[in-house]
Amino acid sequence: MYSSSKEKIKSEQLIDQYSRTISYLRLSITDRCNLRCLYCMPQRGADSSSLVKYADLLSYEELLRIVTIAVGMGMNKLRLTGGEPLVRNGIMDFIRSLAEVKGLEEIRLTTNGVLLHEKAAELYSAGIRNLNVSLDTMRPERFIKITGSDLFAQVWQGIQTACDLGFNVKLNVVAMKGINDDEFADFARLAAQRAVQVRFIEFMPIGNKESWDKTRFIAASELKEIIATLGTMDAGATSSGSRMEGPARVYRLTLPDGKTGRVGFISPISHHFCDKCNRLRLTSEGRLRACLLHDHETDLKTLLRQGGTDNDIQTAIQQTILAKPKGHTLQDDLAGSDQVNCHGQMSRIGG
Ligand code: 5AD
Ligand code: SF4
Repeated sequence: MYSSSKEKIKSEQLIDQYSRTISYLRLSITDRCNLRCLYCMPQRGADSSSLVKYADLLSYEELLRIVTIAVGMGMNKLRLTGGEPLVRNGIMDFIRSLAEVKGLEEIRLTTNGVLLHEKAAELYSAGIRNLNVSLDTMRPERFIKITGSDLFAQVWQGIQTACDLGFNVKLNVVAMKGINDDEFADFARLAAQRAVQVRFIEFMPIGNKESWDKTRFIAASELKEIIATLGTMDAGATSSGSRMEGPARVYRLTLPDGKTGRVGFISPISHHFCDKCNRLRLTSEGRLRACLLHDHETDLKTLLRQGGTDNDIQTAIQQTILAKPKGHTLQDDLAGSDQVNCHGQMSRIGG
């Protein structure tokens, strides 16, 4: 493949100390959300003081500038997260301006689905094709318990609309013992019945830590065993076999009736994927974070607002890449005590 020396210099800037190429940027564009998932946010009423002040959120102009510089360095994939990205006013115009950044190959979105039915068509025409929808239950009553809102039907309609429009939809299911463990089989069957990939995520001790305790945790290996009882889990039958798709190990599940679907397992705790991690995160307050699970952050917002040049920002990005830790130590941390070295809020950092 053609690669000019300039291209080479560009991508070298993205290689960290452990030879990982950091090509994927995740933007938490707001810490606001229209749900209050028990593992993420404090419950309604107790939370406004913990929200980032509007003036402290990066503006769309600031976000676009950072993205343009990062893409200029060779980063080529972007994910918009939150909080809930679709609650931020002006997001469609923002996505359209992102779509014009040369070199940015893909813009993905993670959403809770509440506004999906309303916004799916516009998202599609803005160029988004990949959606991750967070959904931990398909039971309306339980949805209220987990998220604090009676919006399951609306989310479900959003998912269907997105599938009908041709989006590639992945459902993210956080696996929680005693909360939704009786639904894993239903979710896996859903993957075989509809054009969605279902990904089970190990419950991590970040976000709203009051709701985390070891007894709720289910390891991905255990999840996989549960799903494997439903049919055959084929590591080799996918076009590329069971494989790592980002952090997920994905299998093809074939049910006894012959229906097949794709099921993934994300095991940040029991089996980290740190050695393949290609991501940087920008928090809603404009802090660049090299690892979800380490609190070290680079304050790009202050740099921008104090008149930093593109070159200064590029240098800050590069330094953050060079400081990216080799991995996290959650498993060891948890073995010792319940203390972990990630104190950030998921809604601010972006999941
Ligand atoms: N453990 C595992 N997954 C989490 N998410 C949010 N908080 C946690 C947690 N403590 C998930 C959300 C969403 C994604 C962005 O991260 O459900 O799917
Ligand atoms: Fe909102 Fe997602 Fe947090 Fe739930 S997990 S409260 S949907 S940001």
